[in-house]
Amino acid sequence: MTDLLITAGSVYGPDGPVDADVQVTDGVISRVEAGLAAPRGATVIDARGMYVMPGAIDVHVHSRDPGFPEKEDFGTLTAAAAMGGVTTVLDMPNTVPAVDSAGVLESKAALARPKARVDFGLWGLVRSSSTEDQLEALAAAGAVGFKAYLGYSFSTRRKQVLQSADTDDPELEAPPDYGTLARLAPPIARLGLPLAIHAEDPAILSAFRRPLETYADLLEARPAEAEAVAISAAAEIARECGVNLHVAHLSSALGLRVAQDAMRTGTNLTLETCPQYLWLSDQDFARLGTAMKVFPPIRTAADRDALVEAAAGGVIRIVATDHAPHTDEEKARPFEQAPSGSPGVQQLYLSCLALASRLGDISLAPRWVSEGPAALARLHQTKGAIAPGFDADLVIVDPNRTTLIRPAMMRSRQRRGAFDGTDFRFGIRDVFLRGRAIVRDGKLAGRASGRMVRPAR
Ligand code: NCD
Ligand code: ZN
Repeated sequence: MTDLLITAGSVYGPDGPVDADVQVTDGVISRVEAGLAAPRGATVIDARGMYVMPGAIDVHVHSRDPGFPEKEDFGTLTAAAAMGGVTTVLDMPNTVPAVDSAGVLESKAALARPKARVDFGLWGLVRSSSTEDQLEALAAAGAVGFKAYLGYSFSTRRKQVLQSADTDDPELEAPPDYGTLARLAPPIARLGLPLAIHAEDPAILSAFRRPLETYADLLEARPAEAEAVAISAAAEIARECGVNLHVAHLSSALGLRVAQDAMRTGTNLTLETCPQYLWLSDQDFARLGTAMKVFPPIRTAADRDALVEAAAGGVIRIVATDHAPHTDEEKARPFEQAPSGSPGVQQLYLSCLALASRLGDISLAPRWVSEGPAALARLHQTKGAIAPGFDADLVIVDPNRTTLIRPAMMRSRQRRGAFDGTDFRFGIRDVFLRGRAIVRDGKLAGRASGRMVRPAR
């Protein structure tokens, strides 16, 4: 049965924009052609003057669910995602209990499903104590990949990943290190899944520790060398076994250079950066304050420009958000005490559209947020493109509307993020998840109908 016909839009298919109609049958794209007649009973959506784009897959979000409902949960996360044209989110494993076993993954999936307005996938956690059997079971339960937080220790009592180890917790487990990566990268390669890293070398971070009074202190405390060294060491390990090493939230020109060297010499490396690193620099701190405190830090204009060039040139194929909300109260603490992280999922598509438009090629936006992410997550057979046989995850973008980011419109629990006050020259009009409207005319629609996605293996 044909559910939907989207007519006369500029459709961003795998080969760039074409003027066409998109027909959807049973939630799946069935035809992409000009001049299709509306089948009986189908809902017809007029997209004249609009862009029709594939739904975004945000490969890096923190739902905080379960664990920190005051910061976020699957309902608020996926409402924000839907509003922004993100139809799939991949949730990081540092929820509580952390996702270090198949059992935890399964209970998290069960808890997420009834609240999810968009499809979701779940990352598994690499601990220094993780065994091959645990990773295999996580893969069998549907994990989209594994995440290692270099330098973040683990509280076995609280079942929680901790950003800093200076705590009185008597039951701290050592952070995953290069030894952990060397031991577990080969089995992860055999499972056919990506190994993602938070790339800041702990020894360099500890050598540069200092009180954080100014933004310059933060840049000195977490220098680009920390990122570059972590990428380079992990890349050497990854090259040997061929695992897909995925660098989360790349933030520096130096890290980029080292990653490119590794790619040239045969490492199977994918790079992800985030809108905050493509749009902002240390110069924005005076305006934004702790809202832009994120790890790794937002660096200089030169770093930002290098990342933009790499994204424009296809070296960086994935833009994800590292959507990491805290409460507005927590973020209002003094600079040193304020937690790191910013919400971002709602602005992912808008910020990428605006950047792509500035670079003179709108089709970069769907490539960064949909095509590249689908390949990383092994969802490229069903998601990430507008073509027959793909899930009808579709976004209708209005190029004649602008969107000013204000706290009142944010669906995330943290309302003041790094993009507060930014005016993007596009609007998200309608969003469809497997053919069903989840946003109509800029407003949430329908019920939570998200499903868990599993990578093709
Ligand atoms: C992340 C979080 O809050 O979960 N924070 C951040 O600044 N990016 C964790 C992390 O990736 O370091
Ligand atoms: Zn991280």
